[in-house]
Amino acid sequence: MTDHLTIVTHPLVQHKLTLMRKKDTSTASFRQLLREISLLLAYEVTRELPMSMQRIETPLTGMDAPLIEGKKLALVSILRAGNGLLDGVLELIPAARVGFVGLYRDEETLQPVQYYYKVPTGLDQRLVIAVDPMLATGNSSAAAIELLKKSGAKDIRFLCLLAAPEGVARMKEAHPDVPIFTAALDERLNEKGYIVPGLGDAGDRMYGTK
Ligand code: URA
Repeated sequence: MTDHLTIVTHPLVQHKLTLMRKKDTSTASFRQLLREISLLLAYEVTRELPMSMQRIETPLTGMDAPLIEGKKLALVSILRAGNGLLDGVLELIPAARVGFVGLYRDEETLQPVQYYYKVPTGLDQRLVIAVDPMLATGNSSAAAIELLKKSGAKDIRFLCLLAAPEGVARMKEAHPDVPIFTAALDERLNEKGYIVPGLGDAGDRMYGTK
């Protein structure tokens, strides 16, 4: 049984995260670091992936050898910042199916509203890894997971770079069955919903939109 929250404390992850947090890190470096860190996080989140045996021939003999069942996996990016994490994970698991969830926050109700939703078929048969770098209030993440469950997903993991205690609590309340993997659990949210100390707006830093 996986814990509800796993913090990936590997020195390479922590070192790269520190560089990403620095306000003077350029867009190009931020993107490169995100790519590298997502490979390392992918390693952790896929630790218990289903395997199947295949008969192969080595130069010396035949053997039954384990392979990841990539077709049984679905990666779901929560737009837009999720795409930065998605790229790295896909590099490690190129056979994975990929979905996208787009949500924006209604300024009046403050509730997440869906503007895009496209996911692979047969989610009920797959391990689904939802990716979004920043678990802040947890409202949009919880809403995205709700949509995935409505599509049949039963085995879901949530992968992020940074989490706030508020977001972890929100996810635990809404989806106690969805384990969270993150590189760090920060102190708090500020009044604008940013993670503190955090790294700023992940999408803006990734795409240079600010
Ligand atoms: N989204 C971000 O990109 N950064 C935060 O700190 C919170 C939400």
